[in-house]
Amino acid sequence: MKRQLLLGAALALTMSASAQTRLLTDGQEEFQIPAEIYGQFAEHLGRCIYDGIWVGKDSKIPNTDGYRTDVFNALKDLQIPVLRWPGGCFADTYHWRDGVGPTSKRPRIKNVFWGGTMEDNSFGTDEFFTLCERLGCKTYLSVNVGSGTVKDMNDWLEYITGTEDCPNVNLRKQNGREKPYKIDFMGIGNESWGCGGNMTPEFYSNLYRQYSGYAHLYSNNTNPVRVASGSNDFDFNWTKVLMERCHNNMEHISLHYYVLPIRDWGGSKGPDRGFNEDQYFSVIRDGYKMDELVKKHIDIIQGIDKRIKLDVDEWGIWTDQEPGSIPGHLYQQNTLRDAILASTTFDIFHKYANNLGMCNIAQVVNVLQSMVLTKGDKMVLTPTYHVFKMYAVHQNAQYIPMSFHAPKYTYNGESIDAVSATLSKKNGVFHLSLTNVDSKKENTVTLDLSSINATSVVKAEILTSKSFNDYNSFDNPNVVKTVSFDGATAKKGALTVKLPPMSVVTIELK
Ligand code: AHR
Repeated sequence: MKRQLLLGAALALTMSASAQTRLLTDGQEEFQIPAEIYGQFAEHLGRCIYDGIWVGKDSKIPNTDGYRTDVFNALKDLQIPVLRWPGGCFADTYHWRDGVGPTSKRPRIKNVFWGGTMEDNSFGTDEFFTLCERLGCKTYLSVNVGSGTVKDMNDWLEYITGTEDCPNVNLRKQNGREKPYKIDFMGIGNESWGCGGNMTPEFYSNLYRQYSGYAHLYSNNTNPVRVASGSNDFDFNWTKVLMERCHNNMEHISLHYYVLPIRDWGGSKGPDRGFNEDQYFSVIRDGYKMDELVKKHIDIIQGIDKRIKLDVDEWGIWTDQEPGSIPGHLYQQNTLRDAILASTTFDIFHKYANNLGMCNIAQVVNVLQSMVLTKGDKMVLTPTYHVFKMYAVHQNAQYIPMSFHAPKYTYNGESIDAVSATLSKKNGVFHLSLTNVDSKKENTVTLDLSSINATSVVKAEILTSKSFNDYNSFDNPNVVKTVSFDGATAKKGALTVKLPPMSVVTIELK
């Protein structure tokens, strides 16, 4: 009720002062934003694992025990909360025994989903769990349901988590690892409606019930959070059937949603760069649809079992591949547009964070909406990386709801909200993140600081550039980067922020 009144006031004020957005809040903290919604995803796909994360100990590219040093350091800086592996579609073709033991003895396999690339399995279970330990992040393991067996899964879980004197545990010890690893989250299948087995929700539900029971029995009493393979974007029936049939056997259920500049899975999705305003607008507009999607799936889940969280464990922009890159490797450049998609999506995730368990952008290196791109021994941080870094302040912070009536960004007769925002508080400090998605107009945002008992701007940062098409190349890696921002001022108890077109700003307030 209080929030409705605030929204009403915001509407009235906006009508009398155009292009100015007044943020209204009662300053009440609502819930904690789980850090895991800033999760990442690393699949055996293209150059994500090989070349991106792992180059091997004998590589000329600087590495530590085989992990690329530049990429590792960039990811460490990002405070990754959780990493999903080994897929994706690849997970339902993965047989874990291929990826353990002496590297020279590991079999080569064909990556059937992603370009038929031959892989040498030099990155496997031990390399993944060691990477997560070194990054200080949680582990999210995807188990093969599509082409595996319950026994394969049980053996794998024993290898990873077991402590007893038995063959799978002894194999791990023989491979150099005495202590068990920790599995925090465990996906049982991936896209089981598609690449993970082409199943109906009814058929998958039965399999899910079978796998999920053993998943806890064989994980040495560590009870990883079990994630049921969820729906593709607007398939609400999948969520409903799974919830009705399996809710007692799961802790989380997933959802995948990709934004395509041109929504045509079979044809051209639109270029990764060199696009026009049509494809800037469509991406931001379709990104906003995450709100409706998450809300509706959460409503179904909560209507059946309030314990269960939703994981958006694949999200981001999917364009045509970068011209000249290897077919099936899903390598794309990353522009200011993609960074704005990331910030507006996080604002939506924050709003629903009380019912979200985890979200994982696809993917961390060299695939789709990446954090970093590599070429030989070069690496660039993408505009999306910078948004993740700016937004890291919201991890584990208290979410403070706001109401406001956003001005519109109108293009070709269609209108969407021009301003998106998040306010949170951690350790007595407030962080306000604001995005102006309008391609041409500046937007001014104000906030009555007394509503949150703050008085001053401690610091502010901005990410913007001249064109939505701008990106960081290997020759010019700092075109789109975060810089300090002087457009946020606190005067007479009011914060005023002048947001340039296509900008993301984070302000620290005290
Ligand atoms: O992220 C790329 C692919 O997209 C994943 O392998 C699959 O789960 C999804 O279709």
